[in-house]
Amino acid sequence: MTETGGTVYIETYGCQMNVSDTELMLGNLTSSGYTSVSAPDFADVILINTCAIRDHAEQRVIGRLGEMKSRMKKGAVVGVTGCMAQRLGAKLMERAGHVSVVVGPDGYRDLPSLIENARRGERGMSIEFDSEEHYEDFAPRRFDGVKAWIPVQRGCDYRCTYCIVPSTRGPERSRNLADVVREAERVVADGIHEIVLLGQTVNSYNDGTHDFADLLRAVGAVPGIRRLRFTSPHPNDFSDRVIAAMAETEAVCEHVHLPMQSGSSRVLKRMLRRYSREGYFECADRLRAALPGVALTTDIIVGFPGETEEDFQETLTAVDAMEFEEAYTFKFSPREGTPATRFPESEMVSDEVASERLARLIGRVRAASRTRNLGLLGQRREVLVEKPARRGGMLQTRSRDFKTVMIAGDHSLIGKYLTVELTGTTGSTFIGTVQHQREALPMAV
Ligand code: SAH
Ligand code: SF4
Ligand code: F3S
Repeated sequence: MTETGGTVYIETYGCQMNVSDTELMLGNLTSSGYTSVSAPDFADVILINTCAIRDHAEQRVIGRLGEMKSRMKKGAVVGVTGCMAQRLGAKLMERAGHVSVVVGPDGYRDLPSLIENARRGERGMSIEFDSEEHYEDFAPRRFDGVKAWIPVQRGCDYRCTYCIVPSTRGPERSRNLADVVREAERVVADGIHEIVLLGQTVNSYNDGTHDFADLLRAVGAVPGIRRLRFTSPHPNDFSDRVIAAMAETEAVCEHVHLPMQSGSSRVLKRMLRRYSREGYFECADRLRAALPGVALTTDIIVGFPGETEEDFQETLTAVDAMEFEEAYTFKFSPREGTPATRFPESEMVSDEVASERLARLIGRVRAASRTRNLGLLGQRREVLVEKPARRGGMLQTRSRDFKTVMIAGDHSLIGKYLTVELTGTTGSTFIGTVQHQREALPMAV
């Protein structure tokens, strides 16, 4: 084996932005002579692309690093990348003697040279922010064959008081519209027709000349794009222009992930979310008026410092009112250095209370989606076949309005668009029966 090259394994934690970063890293490393492998055991280079959003996410990585130590082959280089690498820096190397490379989200350009140095026994780190970095010259190595994640913005300029992301991903910056469009064209040329635009507050996208409305229209106009999604938008950045662009761009799907975080204006204020309960409702109403049938999904935090039972009740009533398609729910996790850790100790919500609220919230979300989904049986949807389902030998498909529909069929259907009838529901997902497509019916009867 030469000094460069060999095999590389990357394990990814955290959000889609991290998945997309892994695709960029792998693209760059494979073009530098590495071969990507799907297990750590015999890899020459093992990278863990980490998330720092909650303590639990970090503990999983610490555990995994311990496991790697006993599983990795002798002489392998172990690196930690992503948000935890940015947050902990050199402390990671102090804690874990077998980690010899630490690289934050803006330092992936340095990976090949840091890995080479590590092979010679020299540990190294790259954790500077670079407010220009978009890895424009990296060709991502995509693993999903039916939809493509395209980063359009890096970093975050909001300062939600609970959140570590601004300090792990640095200042907000947007890619040039022309670069995003070029990537979308390449994706279509590779046979992928669904695109998900990524950014921490993706609808605040602005490349100095174009806003998010321009971007949606431009990507939506790329020939061959059939579905266009984006995640995560911030409620305050849905300008009328953006909503009009969504409504008028055929490819934009009838689904918006709209993080609410809390249904209580008092808590929202302390979170520095910059909108009230009513402001959130108004945003949802504007989206629903412009995009009939739009499904909303959300993120909610319970147990934020100072959250009372009344505040929590407001979250429950907001969940009832909003009829979310899905809610991703979290217990507040204090992150070192964030403003939320500086609320008085007396305001901290005990783990017991937070767990109990989380359970009640999940129960409420599930009951609501079950009732709604039962009411949808008999309806039809166009679905894209995404992948084999985890159980039952079925296929997992997705509708434009973000419903998961399981269908019977063989793997040759993956990547195809079909019309299905929703015939059953488990509560959160559907069972569907494939309909004969109109084009397939005899022309004359
Ligand atoms: N930029 C995105 C969210 C990124 S983090 C946005 O603004 O919507 C994804 C989700 O993790 C957040 O929406 C929030 O619900 C949750 N989260 C972030 N920090 C958290 C913390 N300290 N404790 C618990 N959940 C948190
Ligand atoms: Fe975090 Fe708020 Fe930025 Fe989202 S908008 S990444 S929650 S600071
Ligand atoms: Fe985690 Fe970083 Fe994403 S903290 S949620 S991987 S931006």
